[in-house]
Amino acid sequence: MSLFATKSIDKIIAEAGESGEHTLKKTLSATALTLLGIGAIIGTGIFVLTGQAAGKHAGPSVVVSMIIAGIVSLFAALCYSEFASAVPISGSAYAYGYATLGEFIAWIIGWDLILEYAFGAATVAVGWSGNVIKLLGALGIPFPVSLSAAPGTKFIAFTSEMMQKVDGQKVGDTILHPSLGYNVVTDELLKAMGQVGIAPQIETALFNLPAFLISIAVTLLLVKGIQESANFNSLVVVVKIFIVLLFIVAGIGFVNMSNIGIGCAAGSAGCAPFIPPNTGTFGEFGISGIFTGAAVIFFAYIGFDAVSTAAQEAKNPQRDMPRGIVGSLLICTVLYILVSGIMVGLISYTQLKGETAPIAAAMNAAANQAAEGTFLKTLLKSFTYIVLGGTVLGLSSTMIVMMMGQPRVFYSMAKDGLLPEWAAKIHPKYRTPYITTLLTGAIVAVMAALVPISMLGELVSIGTLFAFVIVAIGILVLRKTRPDLPRPFKVPAVWLVAPLSAITSLLLMASLPLDTWIRLIVWMAIGLVIYFLYGARHSHLRHGK
Ligand code: ALA
Repeated sequence: MSLFATKSIDKIIAEAGESGEHTLKKTLSATALTLLGIGAIIGTGIFVLTGQAAGKHAGPSVVVSMIIAGIVSLFAALCYSEFASAVPISGSAYAYGYATLGEFIAWIIGWDLILEYAFGAATVAVGWSGNVIKLLGALGIPFPVSLSAAPGTKFIAFTSEMMQKVDGQKVGDTILHPSLGYNVVTDELLKAMGQVGIAPQIETALFNLPAFLISIAVTLLLVKGIQESANFNSLVVVVKIFIVLLFIVAGIGFVNMSNIGIGCAAGSAGCAPFIPPNTGTFGEFGISGIFTGAAVIFFAYIGFDAVSTAAQEAKNPQRDMPRGIVGSLLICTVLYILVSGIMVGLISYTQLKGETAPIAAAMNAAANQAAEGTFLKTLLKSFTYIVLGGTVLGLSSTMIVMMMGQPRVFYSMAKDGLLPEWAAKIHPKYRTPYITTLLTGAIVAVMAALVPISMLGELVSIGTLFAFVIVAIGILVLRKTRPDLPRPFKVPAVWLVAPLSAITSLLLMASLPLDTWIRLIVWMAIGLVIYFLYGARHSHLRHGK
């Protein structure tokens, strides 16, 4: 049988409909699915990367980057919705690929989804760790630097005296605002310390302990049960939406229009351009900066598709999958546009370049504008801590959904014989795919403890965009090969929307750095070796099982 043999959709649907103690439990409603989507979407992207997209790439026009990334995601969400309603199976894009483009492409997507889900969860774990350490620092609890980040990450500790000297120093275009306690060493920070004559004392990290521990904790919760995990997620999502709304409501009155170049004379002092001029390097401001900003910020939208991996655990997947996928994405898109606009209105984009907690920093900027000694000032200052605390809690739910998605993709692959069959075992009591959940947990924990966030984030984005391209093509193939298949949800204007989804995803991939492309190619090459050594030899489809 050929590499491009497809799995019959009727067989897939029949498998998904099986019930009994060896199958997944069908408990999730449309609301639970939407909350799962929001749980996965709102995370490190909006709380951390928005600042970097504005500070390094787009300036105030990060709002436009946000809209572009939202549109690309919406096209993809429509394609995922059609698939998830027609082929409601937990393998998500992997299973859609198997049904339409054949086993070889399915393997490629399945392998690629590891980048999205497992590496995605590891990225968020590292973001979580950074925020926890920051929160502990703000509460006066020191954390040992050697256990705070990936091996080799270098930090300088700032005492309040050192901070006073360095705070506000300008290096190139960047104004520095180090935090009290440990700061990641950057060239700019070293230069600024040189300017004020402080000798840096550098310490090096060995292991990211908080990231490791949160990965283990999430794994254990996921083994315990999908309903427990979904309940915890729902609770956290409420907190997360509260934090985002708090920021919007509290911040909007303090927006300084001149930070975003509106209502002031262009070029006059203090009037920031809405689209800062390009520095001469592609992707650093100007129009190319808006697109690179969109590629970076795209990470913030990843997760709506994770809803589709819970298809076999939904009560009514045909009707509710599209609601969960598109609904969660639309809610987050509106929130993101507001948050990024208010953020650059509260704090100059030039201050956001190295900021790891930009939303909390913008909240602090609003607090600084309130009159000294007033209740409002105290309230806004306390919001800064609430935002930080809410981020810590909120990121855990992003991890839950990502780490819930990955085992379900592995589970589908193992059921098809592309991974060892023992991996597809379901826990008789908890009814969860516990072996693949533990396997995912181990991968995430090790990656999160040892790999720096800068290497992980863009790899996750490129991997996800690649899956979007294949899903968009798959939708068109399925319309041709199975026009008769019942599709409770159909992509509107599919011959326009699906090609646009593939093209815009490719454009965002093209805006990512060459290094990231090389890592993607290496990852895929490793996958191909494993496929030919194992998957192709054990595939049920190819061996007539
Ligand atoms: N969208 C998720 C996040 O931003 C992956 O953390």
